[in-house]
Amino acid sequence: MKILIDDEKKIFLLQTEHTSYGMQVGRTGKLLHLYWGKRIDRIRDLPYDEQLVLYPFEDEERKPENNQEYTPSGGYYFDESCLKITYADGCRDTKLFYEGYQLEKEKDSMSLRITLKEVLYPVYVHLVYTVYEGLDVIDRSAVIENLDTSPIQLENAKSASCYLPRGKKYRLSHMSGKWAGEHILERRMLTQSKVVLETRNGESGPDSCPWVALDENGSADEEKGRVWAASLHWSGNWRSIVELDKLDQVRITMGINEFDFGWELKSGEQFETPVCSIVYSENGFGESSRRFHRYQREWLIPQNKAKSIRKVMYNSWEVFGFDIDEGQQMKLAEIAADIGVELFVMDDGWFGERDNDKAGLGDWYPSKSKFPNGLKPLIDKVNQLGMEFGIWVEPEMVNPLSSLYRKHPEWVLHCPGKEITEKRNQYVLNFAREDVVAFVWDFLYKLLSENNIQYLKWDMNRHLCEVSWPEVPLAEQREIWTRYVTNLWGIFDKIQKTFPDVILENCSSGGCRTDFGMLSRSDLVNTSDNVDPLDNLKIFEGFTQVFLPKLSGRVVTVNRNEINMRSAPLSYRLDVCMMQTLVIGNNLFLCTQQELQLLREKITYYKEIREVVQNGELYRLISSYENPYMAVEYVKQDQTEAILFLLGQSMQFRQILPRIRLKGLKEDWLYQINEDKIISGSGLEEIGIDIALTGDMDSQVYRIIRMQNER
Ligand code: GLA
Repeated sequence: MKILIDDEKKIFLLQTEHTSYGMQVGRTGKLLHLYWGKRIDRIRDLPYDEQLVLYPFEDEERKPENNQEYTPSGGYYFDESCLKITYADGCRDTKLFYEGYQLEKEKDSMSLRITLKEVLYPVYVHLVYTVYEGLDVIDRSAVIENLDTSPIQLENAKSASCYLPRGKKYRLSHMSGKWAGEHILERRMLTQSKVVLETRNGESGPDSCPWVALDENGSADEEKGRVWAASLHWSGNWRSIVELDKLDQVRITMGINEFDFGWELKSGEQFETPVCSIVYSENGFGESSRRFHRYQREWLIPQNKAKSIRKVMYNSWEVFGFDIDEGQQMKLAEIAADIGVELFVMDDGWFGERDNDKAGLGDWYPSKSKFPNGLKPLIDKVNQLGMEFGIWVEPEMVNPLSSLYRKHPEWVLHCPGKEITEKRNQYVLNFAREDVVAFVWDFLYKLLSENNIQYLKWDMNRHLCEVSWPEVPLAEQREIWTRYVTNLWGIFDKIQKTFPDVILENCSSGGCRTDFGMLSRSDLVNTSDNVDPLDNLKIFEGFTQVFLPKLSGRVVTVNRNEINMRSAPLSYRLDVCMMQTLVIGNNLFLCTQQELQLLREKITYYKEIREVVQNGELYRLISSYENPYMAVEYVKQDQTEAILFLLGQSMQFRQILPRIRLKGLKEDWLYQINEDKIISGSGLEEIGIDIALTGDMDSQVYRIIRMQNER
């Protein structure tokens, strides 16, 4: 049983295989948090009916009632709250009391729905807890329901708040970021204060990413230590507040950002907050990540393709930009097929008057000068070469220089009478408008149903500004931010449903919109426009704290790529990308025969190891943040194989490296390393293998395979 309930004491205990989460209806009828941590089995072990001695000046604040599961804004409470409502009569104070609960069993999970009611108004909050027992994840969200006769105004509606054991010291891990520098891991001890992480640009990145983790005493590492983590499924403005209050209570509050948020909840309507997934691990950050990874692989990402192999892709952007045409792409496809590419993706530049970034967005028909015969001849050629075909689109955008903008200037985000801010020469379409969404769906449907396209790269290359919606009543205008996201998701869902075999890539100038909301309807992410191999080590470590490694598509391209002009050996650039989903982006016309041969050999090798890389369990053995080299291991689910990537940064002083101890193998099985030395699983875990790296950007990949008959 995944959810235990003590009806007499009104205690709820949610159980996953290794963790527990407890709540109780307190003496005054409020729903209080009790516990989040390692699994316990006896419901009355929870600290229920806890009472603290109060001194007069401390009064209400010290009561355990402060730890409400979903604290509304109101009463004698001044810390971060989850809900702020203005009622029709002007009242802005909310008090929520327990009403009842419901249990629901689904195929892979069980849900508990606890209903709270506002003390005066017929307004209800349903707190939903979905327990994925085997995955060790609990999903949380809230549904706000207005059964009053008048509308109410929601000004803040967070998904959840989570409490950590009181009185301990904690370290916060989160991500910082920017374009070409997404998912950079940051760590700091908490002091009595609030740490606010958020976005306000209409996307979930790149400044940060809606994930946080806290570890006790700052002492957790990849393998040990207590870690509490939360990740929000929202692809627009979000806000996470991590606060250590004056009573030494740590609270994480997560959800849609209340910045410029508004929602008119009419009589009889419900507002559903996005889901927040929470994970507890007593085995450090490594296990916390693996739990999130399994949750994505087994549940979150489109399941019909979750475990299928991501093919080796060629992408034209890095070296050809907008300068593409039918003949050139056909010749390129021939070389790509020859080196082993399986999927040929034509990026930007194929449509409308798209000769540079000044024109074309919105005009989604093949450029008459570059593809005079439409897309069919190229797609046929690519298919004849034995490859699948993919294409790039940026449906949320329009260039002022386009026939779409000339026809529908009112479709873009704008404040009437004011200049519209251009970024990369483009405007943002108002995705909250149903006519905009219908136009986008129509052109995508036509593109995907009339052409043999197996891969769609959906890009989004600027943030939202002048976010207003003059066409709707004032009370509804702030809904634009939220409706933009849900309509965007709606189109992704429709693509997944109508074209279930198409692989859908989520790109936003690289990884600027990576979150569980997008990932639940995407099959791959363009992790970053930064293709520098050393920078990629850091991005990989940040990304994989929460996101599944196979979702990260990484491009190998020219040496001295323009982002920071670093020279790196081709084999090193390939090894870094082979640790993820491999994308080739070199100028194949300019490659020497030796380079083509190296690409061919590495692609062949990648095809041999990718089942383990893409569907195995990740162990980050050595961090690139703290060491001159990085070591990453993937272990096949049945433990018969592991792949070890050893990626040097800059080695010095003929440093002798410690043996690398592997993880996750079967102790008494024998394994062979690169068809050479044989060593047992316990030998690999306890003694490890000897490694050496020299100079700059030296790399090695080891394949460790179980021996069947050797002793
Ligand atoms: C963004 C993407 C790139 C490429 C270009 C095309 O920068 O991240 O991969 O698709 O747009 O304009």
